[in-house]
Amino acid sequence: VADLSEIASRLEGLHLFQDRSSGLQAAIAVHDTRRGPPRGGTRLRRYASLAEAADDAARLAQGMSYKFAVHGLPYGGGKGVILQDEAGAADRGLLEERLRAYGRCLERLGGHFATGPDYGVTSREVDVIREVTSLAIGEHGSQAGPATAAGVRTCLEAGFRRLGRELAGSSVLVQGVGTVGGPLVRQLHERGARVLVSDPAPAGAALAAELGLELVSPDDVFRTTVDALAPCATGELFDAETIAGLEVQLIAGAANDQLVGAGAAADLLAERGVLYLPDFVVNGGAAVLLTARLESGSEPEVALAEARISETIQAVLSRAEAAARTPYQAAVELAEERLRT
Ligand code: PHE
Repeated sequence: VADLSEIASRLEGLHLFQDRSSGLQAAIAVHDTRRGPPRGGTRLRRYASLAEAADDAARLAQGMSYKFAVHGLPYGGGKGVILQDEAGAADRGLLEERLRAYGRCLERLGGHFATGPDYGVTSREVDVIREVTSLAIGEHGSQAGPATAAGVRTCLEAGFRRLGRELAGSSVLVQGVGTVGGPLVRQLHERGARVLVSDPAPAGAALAAELGLELVSPDDVFRTTVDALAPCATGELFDAETIAGLEVQLIAGAANDQLVGAGAAADLLAERGVLYLPDFVVNGGAAVLLTARLESGSEPEVALAEARISETIQAVLSRAEAAARTPYQAAVELAEERLRT
């Protein structure tokens, strides 16, 4: 069980919230603000305890610090998590009360932390938070999902080039067909990849049927033989056990916090001959889009986000090659350099 003082010691700030009337429990982690004010999505999922939620927020906030730094953006890492429970899952009205209560928590932080969508929080939930605060963006009509998908797609293309092949004709398994995975599947399909999908929700089967794609059981995602894997759901995926069973050459996906044990897992992946592209580089499309939007009030083009991700992944791959490092090590070094300056 995560210990709160240990979690807090990894952060600049840890805010815990409880709203009695709606039953909201939430945590906001602020990791590193040397580059600028903290930004990051808010996720909604079940956790065993508030401490476990805070631990997730802390790791995800660190990912946001690296994400902004590696892409050269003037923001710090933060993340919000809202604890889901049976009552919240069964009763939309109650959930919306909690989302508004969460919005009031953001207001109480005085504008320090601004947020947006993440796992479990789509534009639909952002719309509810926005009823009480303008500190959440990515509402209905936002291109954050397609922008993130475009960034993932451009990284898959860069990865395939690196392996001496191309996306068209290659097989790519997309895990999770939500706000990002859904548009990603379409983009890959349009460009001639052989796409496989996996999602326990009915949306997975529906998308597979619509486009005529193979549907993979959630239990088989990490042992299916494909050219590339694109995880676009939850994190903490790759540990010694899952890595040992992988039959892929390339991994690039939108999920945050994919590696269990960070650098050690990246080394294991390299030893198995898997080209692993770091999540915090690959999935930066929404970070580029939404922070630009917070500055200017209007959302920039998806192409702008895609171009930024493309530039950064080239820089990371060149650095990895020049310094004989894994792309993960190269990306962490680049991010840490930029956090210091
Ligand atoms: N949650 C997304 C991410 O992890 C998108 C996001 C970025 C939301 C920045 C708010 C701010 O990148």
